[in-house]
Amino acid sequence: MSNTVLIGAQWGDEGKGKIVDVLARDADVVARYQGGSNAGHTIEIGRERYVLHLVPSGILYPGKRCVIGHGLVVDPLALVQEIRDLEARGVTVRGRLEIGDRAHIVGPWHRRIDAAREGRAAAGARIGTTQRGIGPAYADKAHRAGLRLGDLLETGWEECARERLNETNAQAAAAGTEPLDTAQTLKDLRAAGEALKPYIGDTVASLAADWRAGRSILFEGAQGTMLDIDLGTYPFVTSSNSTAGGACTGTGLPPKAIDRVVGVVKAYTTRVGEGPFTTELNDAMGEHLRQRGREFGATTGRPRRCGWFDAVVARYAAQVSGVDAWAITKLDVLDEVETIRVCVAYTCEGRRYETVPASARILAACKPVYADYPGWRCATSDVKQFEALPAAARAYVDELCRLTGVPLGILSVGPRRDSTFRLSL
Ligand code: IMP
Repeated sequence: MSNTVLIGAQWGDEGKGKIVDVLARDADVVARYQGGSNAGHTIEIGRERYVLHLVPSGILYPGKRCVIGHGLVVDPLALVQEIRDLEARGVTVRGRLEIGDRAHIVGPWHRRIDAAREGRAAAGARIGTTQRGIGPAYADKAHRAGLRLGDLLETGWEECARERLNETNAQAAAAGTEPLDTAQTLKDLRAAGEALKPYIGDTVASLAADWRAGRSILFEGAQGTMLDIDLGTYPFVTSSNSTAGGACTGTGLPPKAIDRVVGVVKAYTTRVGEGPFTTELNDAMGEHLRQRGREFGATTGRPRRCGWFDAVVARYAAQVSGVDAWAITKLDVLDEVETIRVCVAYTCEGRRYETVPASARILAACKPVYADYPGWRCATSDVKQFEALPAAARAYVDELCRLTGVPLGILSVGPRRDSTFRLSL
C-alpha cells in the first residue's frame, strides 16, 4: 500500500478536507503533521457538515486510525472540545485517535500574545493571523521554552506554564489589558490534560510500526504552500512547514516512506489574511467568486480574498513539494464566468518572473501576465465524470495541468462526497 502526502498548493482553503475524505477510503491511517487549530477542514456528508480544526479529516471514515503528529501545536482546550463535539454527533474518536506526546501545546497565553501583536502591528505589518496562538506557540518551541503534550502527563509542567503566564501578564499589565487568571488557566489545562490522557502516545513509534507493517498512511497537510514559513510569502505566512517536507519532520517518518504527493488547488485562487496576492480581484468578479464559492473562512468566518488561478504559484508549489498529481477543486464556481483568466507569469520593473520571487515587496509589485480562456456557461455540479464535462471546462482543466506540468488526479465540482471524482488516483 502506498503512502501519500496531501498538500495545499495555494494559500490554504483549497478544499483539502474533501480530498482527504476521498483518499482516506484507501488509507489505514490518516495523520496531520503541522499547523494547529488555525486550520478549518470542511467536509459535507449527506446533510451533515463537519468543520475539523485539529482532528484529521479521516475521523469521518469509520475504522480509520487518525494521528495528530508532533509537528502540530495543539490547543488542549480546543482539542477536548472538538473531540466532545464529534462524539456528540456520533463519530467515534476514542480508540481511533492518537496524539503525539512530542507535540507542543498552545496555551491561552499564546492566544493572548498573538492577539496583542496583531493589535499593535502597524497596518502594513499585520499578518492577519487566525489569532489561535500559532506563531507564539511555535516561537516558544524554537526558543526551547515550550510545553509539550507529554509534559501534561507528568509532574512539573505547572512551573513552566506559570512562568509563561507571568511573562504574558507582565506584558498585559504594561499594555493596560486584563491579565489571565493563573489559577483558572492551570486548572483548565490540568483538566484538559486529564481528558486527553487516553489519546496521548508515542506517535513516532506507532507510525513507524504502521509503516513497517505495510499499512497505508495518508498525510493530511494544513494551510498551503504559500503560507509555509520557509517557502511562502514571508512574513505573511503561518509558522510551520505546510509543504511536503513537513510530513517527515512532523511525524518522524523518513522521506523514503513517502510514495507520492498530491497537491490540491482551487480552479481559481483565494487568500485569507494580509500579504501579496498577484491575481486578486477587487471588483465584481472577485465578489462573484466569493459568493458562489462561499469563500468565508471556516475558522474565523472572514471573507476570503478571491482572484484568478495563478499558474506561477501552482508551478512553484508543484516544484517544492514534488507534486505527482493535482486534485482540482471548485471548478463549478466558474460555471457562469464568460472569460476565465489564468496568470502565466509576472512582470515587475521590466523583468519577467516565471517563478515566485522570495521578496514579499517584489511580489506585491508584480503584475500578472494573463492568458484568457472561454467559459462554459452551464452547470457542472451534477457531472460525475470528466468526459461528461462541457468541452470548454475540460480544455480549461487540461490547460491548468499543461501550464503547471502536473497531471490531473482528482476533480471536484461541488461540496458533496459524490461531486468529487477520481481519474488517475
Ligand atoms: P496563523 O497561522 O494564525 O498565524 O496565521 C498566519 C496566516 O496564515 C494568516 O494570513 C492566516 O489567515 C493564514 N492561515 C492560517 N491558517 C489558515 C488556513 O487554514 N487557511 C487559510 N489561511 C490560513
